Amino acid sequence: MEPILVILGGSGSKIRNPEEREIYLGESLESGFLELKEGKEALSAVVKAVIVMEDAPCFNAGTGSVPNLLGEVEMDASVMTSEGLFGAVAAIRDVKNPIKVAMDVAVKTEHLMLAGDGAVRFARLMGHKKYDPLTDELKELYKEKKSSYYKDIDRMRSLYSLETVGAVAIDRFGGMAVALSTGGIMLHLPGRVGDTPIIGGGIYASQRGAIAATGHGEGIMRHMVAKRADDLLDKHNGEYAAEEVIKKVEADFGIIIVDRDGKVGVAYNTKYMCWGIKTEDYKKVQGA
Ligand code: GLY
Repeated sequence: MEPILVILGGSGSKIRNPEEREIYLGESLESGFLELKEGKEALSAVVKAVIVMEDAPCFNAGTGSVPNLLGEVEMDASVMTSEGLFGAVAAIRDVKNPIKVAMDVAVKTEHLMLAGDGAVRFARLMGHKKYDPLTDELKELYKEKKSSYYKDIDRMRSLYSLETVGAVAIDRFGGMAVALSTGGIMLHLPGRVGDTPIIGGGIYASQRGAIAATGHGEGIMRHMVAKRADDLLDKHNGEYAAEEVIKKVEADFGIIIVDRDGKVGVAYNTKYMCWGIKTEDYKKVQGA
């Protein structure tokens, strides 16, 4: 099987810093694809690709995550493989790479998801140091808008939301995996959990394919977007499944899929979606 990596950098009506994003999307593809090239499994490729985007301040995940209504960052992340391995963290605070903690949940516990204080405590036990992911840019914006944020809430949400970073991959053995990470929706209520850590919501993988979604979490969860796409893969390829869920589901979102035959689907109904793809001899990134 020819290895393939597809990544997601967020979607929405406006994409901040598209040029900067293109650079990091490129780095993310290189870093993730190197794993596949070296013969490693799809899971390590998608996690590597997501770490690059979590560390880049221009994406709403890890460093650069948007603040909630109290000015604090709460993040969601998850991983899943075609073999059924799953791990997620929800509303986790004060860590640099939520995706690494989700990996630890998947491989070091018998649980599927840890949330809030329990997730933070688990992260510390696993050696993830305390880290504030809120950037100065977003801290300033929050402070500046704090007194008027109820008035401005819709505009701020439309500027800074609908962004999840993610990756799907198939490795040379035909194994598939997906990783997903987000800071959620700008100025969300504390404790809000989006679609990113919800199995079948924003993320799903099976023997049929690996699927990642970005967009309005409540809409994605309500329609179980990723599982719906997986069901379509029973009789159709990844390209068809991506286009069909976009057509049928009423929510603002985008989706990437790689299926068991290496067919890729990329579709979105938002104005923009950042994404990229890499194979041995092909590479493409789209910053907005
Ligand atoms: N899709 C990201 C979120 O709504 O949390």
